[in-house]
Parts: sequence; C-alpha cells; structure tokens
Amino acid sequence: MAEGQENRRLIYGRRQGRPLRGPARDAFGTDLPRLALDLGALGDLQTLFPGATGFALEVGFGGGEHLAAQATAHPETGYIGAEPFVNGVANLAWLARDLANVRILHGDARDVLDGLPDASLDAIFVLFPDPWPKARHHKRRFISQPNLIQIARVLRPGGRLRVASDIPDYVSWTLIEIAAFNRDQGCRFAWTARAPEDWRVRPADWPGTRYEAKALEAGRAPAYLEFTRA
Ligand SMILES: C[S@@+](CC[C@H](N)C(=O)[O-])C[C@H]1O[C@@H](n2cnc3c(N)ncnc32)[C@H](O)[C@@H]1O
Repeated sequence: MAEGQENRRLIYGRRQGRPLRGPARDAFGTDLPRLALDLGALGDLQTLFPGATGFALEVGFGGGEHLAAQATAHPETGYIGAEPFVNGVANLAWLARDLANVRILHGDARDVLDGLPDASLDAIFVLFPDPWPKARHHKRRFISQPNLIQIARVLRPGGRLRVASDIPDYVSWTLIEIAAFNRDQGCRFAWTARAPEDWRVRPADWPGTRYEAKALEAGRAPAYLEFTRA
C-alpha cells in the first residue's frame, strides 16, 4: 500500500458508464477544470464563492439536474457537488458551464464533509442515495452515524438536510438513523413534516432528479424528507 493511502475509504458503486460523448465530453475537458473543487479551498467558502450569502452541498448529484436547477434559482448561494461517477460529473460540468456559483468534486462527498468548517453550510442534499438492499451491504449506506455526525457538524443551526428515496426500507432506515443520532449525540435533527403530504409530495423548491424520474416511471413513490438541525 502506498504511503498516505492507509486511511483512504472505499467508494462503492460504479465510477464510469458509457464513454463520454457530445457536449458533456467537451465540458469535461473545457469547463470542469474551472468548476473543479480544490479540497484545500473548503476552509474559506467566502473566498471560494465571492459575494455568496449561503452555501450548500449535494452528495451524489448523479446527472446534476437538481444541483444546476438550485444554483440557477439561487445565484446568491454557493453550491458544492460531489460525485464519483464520471458521466454525471461531465453532465454537471455541461449544465453549470455558465454558472459562477458551482464547484464540483469528482470524488467522495465524505472528503468534502471532512474539509468543511463547523457550521458552514445552510443545506445538504442526499437525493436517492444508493439503496444497498442486502443486509450485509447496509453499512455502505450514506445515511449512517459517522456521516450524520459530520453532516451535523458542518450544518449551521437551522440548516436543512434533505433526503429522498424511493425505497421504503431506506426511508425507514433514514428515520431510524436520525432518531439514533438524536438519542446519542448532543444535537438534534427535527423532521419538518406535519402531515403525510409533506413527505409524499415533492416541495416546489425541490427540483427533480433523473433517478427520481426513473423511479416514478417504474411506479415507485418517492419520499421527500427534510430535517432541520437544531
Ligand atoms: C442512485 S444514484 C442517485 C443520483 C442522483 N442523486 C439522482 O437522484 O438522480 C446515487 C449516486 O450517489 C453517488 N455516490 C455514492 N457514494 C457516494 C459518495 N461517497 N460521495 C458522493 N457520491 C456518492 C453514486 O455515484 C450515484 O451517482
């Protein structure tokens, strides 16, 4: 094992799909170098996004549709997206080519969480995380105690965590993990839903994603969970 690699974490799931084509391939070469996140810059988000009044992170942005829509709707907020899947990174580089408030990490969102200062983010989005349905793979699920500890550390009080899933077991898993976190840590996430439609219906300020569209097409009803950090 090479020096410095001992603590490197595994990222599960695919890193590459079809060969890059068309505008996404071009954007990977021409726009990504400008949009790419330098992990060393995370300590000073105000310098990374000059003039921004808020900051957000999307974990596993897939094709980047949600992140690009949010960044377009909120030019005053700096958005960081992390995604190991090269085709998704290229797609977001294309979608964000004219946006000044987006930075992309082609890699593991946990590295972004590790590098962010305490209470630095207003929102974190974890939309349709890989479900890992087999019990022996549950430890790979992104919603987990170690990641919740980091999410709570980097969210400011009142900041929002949004989680979507079309897999009922992952929805209950998320609620159980949040409840365990609230019980064990000196901080709380409060679920904002007051009525079933609050989590069954995607809020107007929550753009859709590619994975969500496939789930709906297949007849699976997603849940849209929002928590605020106390
Ligand atoms: C089921 S897909 C959903 C993609 C997108 N959010 C959507 O709704 O269309 C889950 C994504 O999470 C990404 N992912 C898995 N582990 C990750 C990690 N540690 N950091 C960042 N992204 C990750 C995968 O590469 C994959 O693109």
